[in-house]
Amino acid sequence: MTNQEIVKRINDLRIKHNAVILAHNYVIGEVQDVADFVGDSLELSIKAAATQAPVIVFCGVSFMAETAKLLAPDSTVLLPEVSAGCPMADMASAEAVQALRKEHPDAVFVAYVNTTAAVKAEVDICCTSANAEKIVSSIPEDKEIVFLPDQNLGGNVMKNLNRKMILFPGYCPTHHRIEPAQLEAMRVKYPNAPIVVHPECPVEVTALADAALSTGGMLKYVKESPARQIIIGTESGIIHRLRKENPDKEFIALAPAPRCMNMKKITLESVLKSLEEMQTPVELPQALIERAKLPIERMLAIK
Ligand code: 13P
Ligand code: SF4
Repeated sequence: MTNQEIVKRINDLRIKHNAVILAHNYVIGEVQDVADFVGDSLELSIKAAATQAPVIVFCGVSFMAETAKLLAPDSTVLLPEVSAGCPMADMASAEAVQALRKEHPDAVFVAYVNTTAAVKAEVDICCTSANAEKIVSSIPEDKEIVFLPDQNLGGNVMKNLNRKMILFPGYCPTHHRIEPAQLEAMRVKYPNAPIVVHPECPVEVTALADAALSTGGMLKYVKESPARQIIIGTESGIIHRLRKENPDKEFIALAPAPRCMNMKKITLESVLKSLEEMQTPVELPQALIERAKLPIERMLAIK
């Protein structure tokens, strides 16, 4: 089947099932193009919470599909490729959080949304890379904070807010391996191009960038920037949307270009199969949904 034929069948099934297709900014271009909405983790959570659609096809990784299920429990949420996980989310277990609770009984536990539902059920509030500083700032100054699982996002928040937190030692393999030398090389080659990175990069890397933003924040930054050339320090799938929305600008990925293999597992074929076979639904016990949705709802309530 050609891509055009696959897209046609996806469109027929989307109508038949009254399905909405949500896609993260990192998935491959063809999948972004077939989606009803493309966004960052926060934007996708807000969309999922607001949708009336009986079926959500979530083109992203498993914690994102789980989050959609927590916010739209009556919808069938399908993850087209069940093995599309997030290694960082898998670094923190519910048991590890429970053990930390015993060590820090008075602390507020803040979890990046890149966590499993089981971990969300153990924490007080969630954040995404788009709102992490706002969420941490909402916690009284005298409160101890445990931040998990991303030591880099946590480290960047600590530095920007000048506030101490206890950091869980997790990291995103895709962003953690970005090195200061890669940014320095780009500065030499493109001295006038701003460098934008994701706050999942280590503090030494964000310190060299012009901005450290969520993927949604990057799209906004780029739109508003007068620069013609911009260096992108995050998963390279975002460059598809950047080019599409800013045809007059040039986007240059760091070398080597950061890639998240899990995001790349979502293909047009898997989206079609997902709609044909209603696979694979996110299934979470009701009691877990009740507990795990609370920290996300608390996050969404902070304006
Ligand atoms: P955003 O929320 O910025 O889209 O990031 C999600 C993610 O997984 C980054 O690696
Ligand atoms: Fe997880 Fe990193 Fe992939 Fe984002 S880019 S889904 S944090 S492994």
